[in-house]
Amino acid sequence: MRLSLRFLVPLLIALALFAYAAVPLVDVLTTRWFVRDLDTRSNLVANTVQEPLEELIRSGSSTRILNFFHRITRDERLYAVGLCLPDGAAPIATVAFPPELRCSMLERYQNAGEHLLQTAKGVVHVAVRPITIDGSDNAQLVLVNDMSYIERRSSETRWYLFYFFAALAASVALITVVIAQLSWRGWVAGLRALLRGEGILRPASGTAPELRPIARDVQALLRELEHQFRPTDESQQRWTQETLRAVLRGEMRGNDIIIVSNREPYIHVRSPQGIRVQRPASGLVTALEPVMRACSGTWIAHGSGNADRETVDKHDRVGVPPENPAYQIRRLWLTEEETAGYYEGFANEGLWPLCHIAHVRPTFRSSDWEQYRAVNAKFADAVVAEAHSDDPVVLVQDYHFALLPRMIRERLPKATIITFWHIPWPNPEAFAICPWRVELLDGLLGSDILGFHTQFHCTNFLETVDRFVEARIDRETFTVVCRGERTAVHRYPISIEWPPAPLAKAPPIDEARENVRVRLNLPRGHKLGVGLDRLDYTKGIIERFTAVGRLLELQPEWIGRFTFVQIAAPSRSTIDDYQDYANRVHRQVAQINDRYPNAAHPPIILLAEHHEPESVYEYHRAADLCFVSSLHDGMNLVAKEYVAARDDERGVLILSQFAGASRELPEALIVNPYDAEQCAAALGVALAMSDDEQRDRMRLMRNIIREFNVYRWAGRMLLDAAAMHQRKRFHHRLGNSDE
Ligand code: G6P
Repeated sequence: MRLSLRFLVPLLIALALFAYAAVPLVDVLTTRWFVRDLDTRSNLVANTVQEPLEELIRSGSSTRILNFFHRITRDERLYAVGLCLPDGAAPIATVAFPPELRCSMLERYQNAGEHLLQTAKGVVHVAVRPITIDGSDNAQLVLVNDMSYIERRSSETRWYLFYFFAALAASVALITVVIAQLSWRGWVAGLRALLRGEGILRPASGTAPELRPIARDVQALLRELEHQFRPTDESQQRWTQETLRAVLRGEMRGNDIIIVSNREPYIHVRSPQGIRVQRPASGLVTALEPVMRACSGTWIAHGSGNADRETVDKHDRVGVPPENPAYQIRRLWLTEEETAGYYEGFANEGLWPLCHIAHVRPTFRSSDWEQYRAVNAKFADAVVAEAHSDDPVVLVQDYHFALLPRMIRERLPKATIITFWHIPWPNPEAFAICPWRVELLDGLLGSDILGFHTQFHCTNFLETVDRFVEARIDRETFTVVCRGERTAVHRYPISIEWPPAPLAKAPPIDEARENVRVRLNLPRGHKLGVGLDRLDYTKGIIERFTAVGRLLELQPEWIGRFTFVQIAAPSRSTIDDYQDYANRVHRQVAQINDRYPNAAHPPIILLAEHHEPESVYEYHRAADLCFVSSLHDGMNLVAKEYVAARDDERGVLILSQFAGASRELPEALIVNPYDAEQCAAALGVALAMSDDEQRDRMRLMRNIIREFNVYRWAGRMLLDAAAMHQRKRFHHRLGNSDE
């Protein structure tokens, strides 16, 4: 708009000038030039005809004079010729001689007098010249010149002039625009550079010196505004799918997102009814699936379902969620050996027990390590293949892929690599058990950002790096510089989507209670506790049941009036430690229930099978309390899901102090799962808690989860990564290395 104005205004001014000043001037000038020209021509003609005409006049033959005149008017411009003799009679003239022109009025056309005569046929030029007969001026020769060609020429000249003016004006306008544009850009660039501080840091950078005082003021103002708004910005911004999308579009320049995890978000399995889709029990999937729905992109994962191959396209991709695809899963096929070595062996028999303090001995085998390395390389190939550009945003998930960040960095140096470690990070002594500790650390340090749930795990990681890797550690900013590349090690407590999608389909609270009560054959008014976990030794399921048993010993009035329902999704069941654990859990349930053979309803119901999210939410909404008793857990999203499911602001959460979630949810009843007495007491408190207290606690916890939802979790990491890249570019320009 501004550009077109800059162009049009000079153009219009030039054309207006042309219309009002140039056209009349041109007319006057051209007429004057032509009249002068005709005068000269007339002199020439008069001089030329003087002698022959003198003779003809002397002969006294009007006819001969007329013939002579006809000959000379063959010149197209000489329109008519006449001769006035001293007798004052009518002129001897050619036919076209204007009747308005009489011999008596010739005086006014002589010499510098008038030249133009308006006749019935238009304007003509009249020139009167004396013809000398016998030495004195006795006759008047009247030459009438045609002026119409002059009119034609004037009009042509006007057009030429118009085109010339228009071209000149357009050129001037164009030059004006270009100059204005260049100088505006220069000013803006200068101002921007100064605002960024470059001009001040590097005065030679070519920024306009006259801008510096303004820039200093503006910088100060910006700092003040930033300072004023920063505290409110974080806490007051409500993070939604849309906010996250805006961050991606704005800060990450719309780059494609690639997530890599071992577990896929949708598994296709064969069933008697045909192929059905299963959503796995995985905190990682619970958190990241909504993020992917918001961001689109590609999720690379192990295709582990027995019908997975039948549902992909020729590139091994499938659009999900099945009912309304928003992103792609790219499935990778692993052989039995690869799964046994990389997943069951190194990841779940080695790293999982290594990182969790659950008193299960980690097992490290070199054959597993080889598979772990090979499968990480296989996923790196898939990332490179799926990347549409050389600078994708890659979100690497969890302990299955400690080597992957470095492998991606080597192949795609410009990629933004954000790694999240969903499980705890042990102290350096514990980590030292792993024979490949240096390789694992080096692999992770290929990331731009390495995230953990808690500050404690970040500190453990930094200390582990300090112990085993040659790197520069900055404990102020929690960054590590290794091989000249910086990795920020930060805390990003993971969360769930808000509001959770399964809640939209959930029945009202009363209906959910009724459904569960009927399903489990429990009477109205029966108190219900719920536990929801993978059948994993880190989850403290045995400690939980011990606490239920202890409650019934301490408060026998709950026998037959309270039942604890444990949903335990089978997990990693090919691993011995998991099989042993599952057996122990089953045995313990039988032991506790057997203690009360006469109870109308069993103290514990164990549902050791997979439940889909909608069903899980129904149990959450039906239960009076939820018990999360992890012995060690990075975060534990079951605790957050229980709170999110209770839009009636009722129910009590009992939460292990060893789950990361306990840092964010202090209004839960926080317990030590190893302390059976304390846990039993917490169960008693929960069963007796007033509605008001339940509401107050729930409300506070719901506010926290609403604010700190998974969109904020992902958004914060992306914003931090974007800021790191900006800083990197800036220091690169300044020539600072290792930034
Ligand atoms: C934990 C891990 C996840 C994993 C989930 C389920 O939450 O951090 O990476 O997906 O357990 O375990 P699974 O072995 O079944 O994927």
